[in-house]
Amino acid sequence: MSEPAKASSGTREPRDHSHHSVDGRALSNHSAASDGHTFTPSRALDDHHAHSHHSDTVGGNGHTHSGLPFDGRIHTYIPDMDEDRIYMDYNATTPLEPQVIQAVTEALHEAWGNPSSTYTPGVKAKKIITQARENVARMVGGKADDIIFTSGGTEANNLVFRSALEAYRESCRAAERRGESHHHDNGSTSAWPLPHILVSNVEHDSVRLTTEHLLKDATADVTSVAVSKVTGRVEVEDVLAAVRSSTCLISIMMANNETGVLMPIRELCQRIRFVNRQRQHRILLHTDAAQAIGKVRVDALDLGVDYLTIVGHKFYAPRIGALYVNGPGTTTPLYPCCLEGDRRGASDQALRTHP
Ligand SMILES: Cc1ncc(COP(=O)(O)O)c(C=O)c1O
Repeated sequence: MSEPAKASSGTREPRDHSHHSVDGRALSNHSAASDGHTFTPSRALDDHHAHSHHSDTVGGNGHTHSGLPFDGRIHTYIPDMDEDRIYMDYNATTPLEPQVIQAVTEALHEAWGNPSSTYTPGVKAKKIITQARENVARMVGGKADDIIFTSGGTEANNLVFRSALEAYRESCRAAERRGESHHHDNGSTSAWPLPHILVSNVEHDSVRLTTEHLLKDATADVTSVAVSKVTGRVEVEDVLAAVRSSTCLISIMMANNETGVLMPIRELCQRIRFVNRQRQHRILLHTDAAQAIGKVRVDALDLGVDYLTIVGHKFYAPRIGALYVNGPGTTTPLYPCCLEGDRRGASDQALRTHP
């Protein structure tokens, strides 16, 4: 999957005021170990040299650990940046591609209408939204109806947590109506425990801080599974060992934003699908694919996830995002809200990025 950082001429191209795309693989490196707390790129290199193991990775934080220059195509001109500096922090955010700026500008001119209205500007806005939804769905291997536009990855991730918690509560209420009580891990039956969520200890703050809030408010129990100190990967067996009868969600990122390490999402989904057959409460699976899209193939159906987070500003779009939900409200629970087809607390939007 990963390729070593490619050597290039390293010479700067003349300043041409245009954006050149970055091949994510050109930024790849073989970063290896992480303790999940103090991981730094230079540590990764040291640890990689110390161990023969390595994981699949996508480009880390835009650094070459070896100091090798990047592929010659990446000399993006960023206004306001020092002439002698090259912007490389593509895992934080990317500049907009000229085609994106053009598409947004056209939409600002032509699709300013309310997409719910029947007159021309509204119809145009609706058409653009529909097309965009289809494009995003195709990108991640889903159907247009599976895509919910959001203000970014943080909102998408929060929508998942909220939905999984509500689905668990609903499952408890349904079991009560059937006269069932909760089957605890120790075999006893009694009151319903708090919903339990599993994450890795290297998740992005939008997940980590959300779980901290849930814990603090006593809304959910959370287990943070440590990634391997050798590979930087969360191990499937460690996740499975942490599953409880009250587990309602496993949320593990697809690629880490600091190390670029790819997590075994497909294998995890396969195992959980089997576990789910024998459970009172279904475990939902979410992956935050913010750092994977545009760098490696991302196919939600092939992975087998229920939810997948998409963050546009990691691949040349404005600072917006989307959530893939496999059959929202039917196959997979989704609990908001009011609009975006009753799926999110916001109205349809062709242009708005932050409601
Ligand atoms: C892995 C990951 N998830 C989520 C986010 C948050 O996305 P946003 O800034 O659009 O809320 C980021 C962005 O930094 C990220 O790297």
